Parts: sequence; structure tokens; C-alpha cells
Amino acid sequence: MTRMAEPFRIKMVEPIRMISREERIEALKEAGYNPFALKSEDVYIDLLTDSGTGAMSDKQWSAMMIGDEAYAGSKSFYKVKDAVKDIFDYNYTIPTHQGRGAEQVLFPHLIKEKGQYVLGNMHFDTTMAWIELNGAVPVNLVIDDAFDTQKEHPFKGNFDLDRLENFIKDKGAENIAFIIVTVTCNSSGGQPVSMENVKGVKNIADKYGIKINFDSARFAENAYFIKKREAGYADKSIKEIVTEMYAMGDYLTMSAKKDAIVNMGGLIAIKNEADVFAAASASCVPMEGFITYGGLSGRDMEALAVGLKEGLDFEYLESRIGQVQYLGDELVKNGIPIQWPVGGHAVFVDAGKFLPHIPAEQFPAQALCNELYIEAGVRPVEVGSLLLGRDPQTGEQKAAGVEFMRLTIPRRVYTDRHMDVVVDALVTIWNRRDQIKGLDFTYEPKILRHFLCRLKPIEE
Ligand code: F0G
Repeated sequence: MTRMAEPFRIKMVEPIRMISREERIEALKEAGYNPFALKSEDVYIDLLTDSGTGAMSDKQWSAMMIGDEAYAGSKSFYKVKDAVKDIFDYNYTIPTHQGRGAEQVLFPHLIKEKGQYVLGNMHFDTTMAWIELNGAVPVNLVIDDAFDTQKEHPFKGNFDLDRLENFIKDKGAENIAFIIVTVTCNSSGGQPVSMENVKGVKNIADKYGIKINFDSARFAENAYFIKKREAGYADKSIKEIVTEMYAMGDYLTMSAKKDAIVNMGGLIAIKNEADVFAAASASCVPMEGFITYGGLSGRDMEALAVGLKEGLDFEYLESRIGQVQYLGDELVKNGIPIQWPVGGHAVFVDAGKFLPHIPAEQFPAQALCNELYIEAGVRPVEVGSLLLGRDPQTGEQKAAGVEFMRLTIPRRVYTDRHMDVVVDALVTIWNRRDQIKGLDFTYEPKILRHFLCRLKPIEE
């Protein structure tokens, strides 16, 4: 047999519909040309994010019925704690309402002084915001190949180890708050980090006495790529690979809304340090809630305990990442420029190459997102200069390495036929791409502006 289907049957369906082109044009105008402001009922295929948008399994839904809603010491909490110990082998677990909740609680205890640096392969936007809000400076040290969308490289989420070590030598180890390894590296295209690279990071971290935090939203997808692409891992299970990688870290923060396939949830886990656990616990109580629920209900924690393990299933990952690959392959066949190889949770279209006539400060990827919505009711998201924002010191627009339009695929939600609709629409747009116009602000918030800004097309 050469072709395999999804390793599940669909038990419940949620109707979706495509509103007319005129209605879509109107809806986008009302949304200030920012897809975040669209009503989801006006969206036909929603590829804004894979975060909290997955379909839970029968086992997760049934586990929710036995959620223990005790304020303190819930049985459901201990199931999450046991799952974390089993998969990551970390001793302390604090649930949080989502990933940024984990960042908000833990980071102040890792950043000792204002002006310290946090060194990452590439920081996610809210992660970067929490680092900055705590007075530290996030630094991206991903390999340069990550920004060459046409270059074949199996691990475009890797750290540039020379730059990492040189940065530490240059600034002094005492000025580094911690290192953050984001798996997979969302911002460079859902690109994996190799085990060898993490070993390199760990060697440097040990040499200079610096701690490592894993930003773990897509930890299982990263392990899948290691199994498929890195020598020596083909016969290891996904769980074995995850455990091996996390042995090199000290802490993890996780948005459980991705690979743990829940609609809401997050985690902090700490390998050994009782003092960091105590400090984070003390912050968690006023911020997220008591330390055995951290903003989650008992039923949420039940679904999370099951989802953490389901997300490690090889057949599921093969089908999930296979669907993302399918979309990428179809786009490449049609000449659409994308980040290659295709990443784990999304296809990242290179909007700078798609719309070379639109300069960065007119947000080509955002213009392409809007065009795809008008063409087929598909809602993608911009990961380019609009998201990157301005330098907080100078107010200058920062230059994105690549102007990406992210087609983010929710887990177990859409079929390959939905992917075909996206391909057809993008091909149609490709053929009239020179008519697409750039955008300008009518409202620009100071931080995380891409979520709430309003724009208008630039008319010559
Ligand atoms: N870290 C990474 C790598 C992420 O991708 C995200 C969220 C977070 C942290 C924050 O987690 O949303 O649960 O608070 N990424 C989503 C996305 C929103 O669309 O990529 P959160």
C-alpha cells in the first residue's frame, strides 16, 4: 500500500460556509484590513493558527467527564504532573491558562537584572514581549540559512552556535539571563532544531553556567523531524527523543494548545530547582490561580493529561505533518515560493518573493493574507514586518528576515480537500499578483500591534 489515510474517523462535524465575495470585501474593510478582527463565522477555512484550534479525541472528551474540580490538590492535576514526569522527566509542574501565562509567571525569576539578555534561536512574539516587559533584551541567534527560503536544510530552527558563544563571550556570562530553545522554531517556519544542535547549545550553556528553558509548544513535531531526518534516531520512539532532548534543559514553558491538542492550557515545568519552583509558585497564586490548577478547570487538566500523550503518537504525527507537507508540495508544484523544507504546523509563503513590488513597510505578507481571504474566505496570518514591529529605542520599523504569510493547519480539523481550495486560490492570486497593493496604518498600537492594528490599502 502506498497511500495512507488519516488515522481517525470523524464523529462530530461543525458546519462551515463561504459568504459571497462582496460580503468578504465588506467584512475585511470593517475589520480594518486585519484578519484578526474578522468574525470567525465569516471565515470559510481558518488558518490563522494551530493554537487551541485542534479537534480533541473521544478519549480527551471522555476524560473531561471525570475532571476533579477541587480548588487545591485536584486528582486531575496529578495526572498532568505524572504525564510531565513520564515524558520530560521534570520534577515540578505548574499548570497555567496558556503559554504566555507560563512565561509571565516564570520569566521574572530567571531574569535577575534589567538589561540582561535572553538568547534564543528565534523568539515567539508573546515570548519576546514577556522578556521585554521584564526588562531583558531578547536576541535571535538562528542560523542564517533559516532566512533563505529556497535553501534545503533539514533543521532551519538550529542555533548558530558560533554566534551564540561569541555573544556570551562579548557580553559576559553574568549578563545572560537564560537561553531559550524554541521547538519547533515557529517564527522561522515551524522549523525543527536537531538533537546535535541542542547538544551544542547545552555544551556552551554548561561552559558558561547558563540555564536552558525549552519553549515547548511543538515539542512532539520537533521530535518527529529528528526521527525522520537525524542520523541515529530512526528507531527511537517520539517519546524517547523528547525525553533525551529535555534532559538537556532546566525548565520548560509550554503552550499546550498546540502539540498537547487542547483548546486551552499551558505548563511550566522545572527539572530540579526547588527554589525556582517555590518562587514561581508564589507568583502563580495571584497571577494564574492556585498551583494545582493555574487558571485551568479540572476537566481542562484531564484533557491535557491525555493530549500530552496522544500528541506523541507516531501515526498521528505522520498524518498531521503529512498534511502540511501535502499543502506545501502542491504550492511548490504551482510555482508558489514557500519556506522549504516545509515545517511542522504550517506552510510559510514567502510574500516578499510573491509581491516584490510591495516594500516591507507596506506589509506585503499582510496584503497577501487579505487577498487570500477575499479570494476564497481563507484566513492566514502575517509573520513578517507587521508582526516584528518597531525598535523600542529608536521607533524605527525593524526589517523582517523574510515576509511570511503563514498558512497554519489546525490538528485533526481539515481534510486535504480544504488544502486544495487554498492551493487553487493562491494560484489564482499568483496570476494577478502585480495588481495587489500595500497597506498603511490608520491605527497602530504601541506593542504587539499586529493583533489590534487597523490598516488601509495604499492607493496611488
Ligand atoms: N511560544 C511559542 C513558540 C508559540 O508558538 C506560542 C503561541 C506561545 C509561546 C504562546 O502560547 O498562545 O498559549 O499563550 N503561538 C500561537 C501561534 C498563538 O499562533 O503561533 P499561548
